[in-house]
Amino acid sequence: MRPMDAPERHAHGGRSVRDQARDHLLLNFTDMGEYADAGSKVIVRGEGCEVISDRGRRFIDGLSGLFCSNLGHSYGDEIGAAAHRQLATLPFTPTWYLAHPPAAALAEMLVERAAPLGMQRVYFANSGGEAVESAWKLVRQWHAANGEPQRTKAIARRIAYHGTTLGALSFTGMPDCRAGFEPLAVPTTHLSPTYAYRHPAGDDPAAFTRALLEEAEEAILFAGPDQVAMLIAEPVQNGGGAFVPPPGYWPGLRALCDRYGIVLVADETITAFGRVGEWFASSLFGGRPDIITFAKGVTAGHAPLGGFLMTEAMAAPFVTGGHTYMHGHTYSGHPLTTAIGATVLDIYARDGVFDNVRGITPRFEAGLQELRRIPLVGDVRGMGYFWALELVKDRETKERFSADEADWLLRKELSAHMDELGLLCRLDDRGEPVIQLSPPLVSDAALIDRIVDIVGTAAERAWNAWNGSTAPAADPRRLSRRSANPKAGAA
Ligand SMILES: Cc1ncc(COP(=O)(O)O)c(C=O)c1O
Repeated sequence: MRPMDAPERHAHGGRSVRDQARDHLLLNFTDMGEYADAGSKVIVRGEGCEVISDRGRRFIDGLSGLFCSNLGHSYGDEIGAAAHRQLATLPFTPTWYLAHPPAAALAEMLVERAAPLGMQRVYFANSGGEAVESAWKLVRQWHAANGEPQRTKAIARRIAYHGTTLGALSFTGMPDCRAGFEPLAVPTTHLSPTYAYRHPAGDDPAAFTRALLEEAEEAILFAGPDQVAMLIAEPVQNGGGAFVPPPGYWPGLRALCDRYGIVLVADETITAFGRVGEWFASSLFGGRPDIITFAKGVTAGHAPLGGFLMTEAMAAPFVTGGHTYMHGHTYSGHPLTTAIGATVLDIYARDGVFDNVRGITPRFEAGLQELRRIPLVGDVRGMGYFWALELVKDRETKERFSADEADWLLRKELSAHMDELGLLCRLDDRGEPVIQLSPPLVSDAALIDRIVDIVGTAAERAWNAWNGSTAPAADPRRLSRRSANPKAGAA
């Protein structure tokens, strides 16, 4: 073990990182006033599946950073050596009009892994949002090349997150993220997500699938079937808490898109690269997409990289049809990030990382399902290393917490217990209040057990506090929401 980094080692001009951050950083989706008050965390180091704060506290990285640190934090030397080799060989050359070895090699590696889904070609961007937006622009051009420039609309789903840049934000179905920036660039209709727990047909998978697909078809017909360009959805939706699709849903989306000439995009920014035990989650649900967007796990958080895979048919106008993809980023396919991506993909295969996920998933699931004994836990859903627990006031009636109560439950009560017990996870209420878990894919059975134990303990304490049997961290009835947007980070 390396010696603990002292805070001073990160200081500049004698000031602590905490002070520097408070005074000069603008944090994502963060109320900086609350940040200044709260004695917030500074993370200085990672080790295995844990991160360590400047005060020497260890936390299990139960969300893999933001669903991306799939290898945890101990592969930095190996990945760093590959990065060093690349920087010493060729730090930069663009992928505009020319190519270079790491981008070409990573493209081939990705296509090999996505070939069973019919994918044949890759475009690289630098993030998930850029990947989604780049895919949208290809879709628009593809329709235009096929004589249908009037296809300008999109279909996405409510509470889904597809990024914050103005194009991708059009597809994001979270009102808080969108409201300040409307009207958005792409006219988009948002459908119900695959949220069985509160859907009237949720207990009957066949009826549920039918209802969701009927809703999708109605939306397409209403928008004008010859005007809809793209339908975008995550195989397992993150926003709202790990909504797994019912059987037949993806084949049904595929059939609708075929019927009405719509391009089907699977946004696998989170679900690709082992999160649910496969290279691509799309391989589990049938109904092959035309495009798969990816990011996060492609480098396991070691560098910013995203992109999209496309079928030969989607690529054809730009490869053999004389059309040019009118899009680009200076750092698309950057030698550094693609060299890191290729190394990470090799590690996934070499170390049997997805076998680890598949092997331990039943134990993870059984442990989480057992937490239904706590009355606060209304639903437990997810797959692989991607789970959510929905929290309710009354399990029998599924009675919801009010917005203020949920704010208290998540941000005062549960967050204090998770902090004390040493687990980083997401406590979110952009839909209903959920505890979201997405641990590194290299987490072993003992760590998964610890995560389940901590979640159980925190949920029990919160339930007791709610019922007044122990002193709550703050009285929910006197708590007023401090900020216009008190919600935790969005990605
Ligand atoms: C499904 C999905 N799409 C897109 C994005 C946006 O990715 P980024 O934050 O890299 O722009 C995210 C981020 O979490 C995501 O979960």
